[in-house]
Amino acid sequence: MAKTVHIKTYGCQMNVYDSDRMADVLAPLGFRRVDRPDDADLVILNTCHIREKAAEKVYTELGSLKRLKSAREKTGRKMVLAVAGCVAQAEGEEMLARAPFVDIVLGPQTYHRLPRLIADAWRGEGARVETDFPPEAKFDHLPEVTATQGPSAFLTVQEGCDKFCTFCVVPYTRGAEFSRPVESVLAEARRLVALGAREITLLGQNVNNYHGAAPAGGEWRLGRLIGAIAEIEGISRIRYTTSYPADMDDALIAAHGAVPALMPFLHLPAQSGSDAVLRRMNRRHTADGYRRIVDRLRAARPDIRISSDFIVGFPGESDHDIEETLRLVREVGFIQAYSFKYSPRPGTPAATMEDQVPDPVKSERLARLQELLAAEQRAFNASCVGRVMPVLFDRAGRLAGQLIGRSPYMQPVHASVPEAMLGTLADVTITGSSATSLAGAISGLAPPVATMPAQAEAFS
Ligand code: SAH
Ligand code: F3S
Repeated sequence: MAKTVHIKTYGCQMNVYDSDRMADVLAPLGFRRVDRPDDADLVILNTCHIREKAAEKVYTELGSLKRLKSAREKTGRKMVLAVAGCVAQAEGEEMLARAPFVDIVLGPQTYHRLPRLIADAWRGEGARVETDFPPEAKFDHLPEVTATQGPSAFLTVQEGCDKFCTFCVVPYTRGAEFSRPVESVLAEARRLVALGAREITLLGQNVNNYHGAAPAGGEWRLGRLIGAIAEIEGISRIRYTTSYPADMDDALIAAHGAVPALMPFLHLPAQSGSDAVLRRMNRRHTADGYRRIVDRLRAARPDIRISSDFIVGFPGESDHDIEETLRLVREVGFIQAYSFKYSPRPGTPAATMEDQVPDPVKSERLARLQELLAAEQRAFNASCVGRVMPVLFDRAGRLAGQLIGRSPYMQPVHASVPEAMLGTLADVTITGSSATSLAGAISGLAPPVATMPAQAEAFS
């Protein structure tokens, strides 16, 4: 019997990828993916634990799903409710205490066990919690990618993190670093291209520390893997995220100069510009070390641009420390960045450090940092006007006759082009800019719409 599944994804791109893979696991069981939970037989929340707010959202959502589930049960039908992802991993059994109507709690390393868990839940065998880090590698037990992700696809090559930044839950929720073997990555990349991908973004919590088993023995690091993916016929663009500054090795930096398909844009989280804060964060790079990496990247690929993540209000952060962060931002010039107030995460070393920064101070510092970052982003966007940029059109625009694509720098570019251009890469003349996006036109086609669309969707 055909059944439906609704998967709601929170947080990072790795969760987006994982949600697609869960859908792949469920497809052979007859589950069709639907956009709304209302009439779904199975609802999966794929959760994020990175900051307190992200984790709390899950319980709010569970509240409304509880009502949906009992309304459905009153009509004699069943709804299986599963919580996956990092909140599930972190809370485990505790989640059932707080939300006893949940049927399945499963961590990110156990998605290949989903069919059995669902079958048990369907038979009413009681709630199940699977949050171990199983000895079998989940990638060996997941089916091949079957559904198209469209022109721009994600491919997880590395999972987990051994860096233990003192603020971060990832090493606890995602477990130890693991790199997929080269062959399995290349096979998946070929499949994605066959399914219509022109752009592949390689994912990993620490993607630039990739070291996968090579076909002829030994290991390949990320630079070499990117070189091999670039050889696949039909690939136009390669990206990778997220990178740890101290793991930017020579071969990877050289790849930025040598591989034309590797986009001239890199997300390289700095977190802070103060050495004292970076040390307490256990980041293993200094502010000057970060500047040197950027200089080397620019030497290899002069048109490269950098984006970053920042945390303000880390324990002990002084006025001087935040000034150092602002100085780094001014000197490097980021074209885009995510910035957050430090959020204490239970079980991480920084949560119990002395000198926690009061919230109003965090807010004031965040506002100053974001104002500077927004000005840099706006200035870069404005500097693109008049240039011709290759744009990969990957989705429909909000207005009829409009498509949205991405520039090499990930800027959304809105243009009036025929729908048939969806999935194609075209040279676009940039005609306008806003805080977060660009407008463009293709010569010979109608001029762009006059009004700039609002904000691109924000990182949640
Ligand atoms: N692997 C990446 C980070 C992944 S987490 C790296 O090497 O930096 C994504 C971002 O969330 C981080 O870059 C950090 O800026 C932010 N973040 C993580 N833990 C946080 C916390 N406890 N409070 C606030 N922001 C946090
Ligand atoms: Fe988190 Fe640091 Fe790893 S930010 S994901 S512990 S590199």
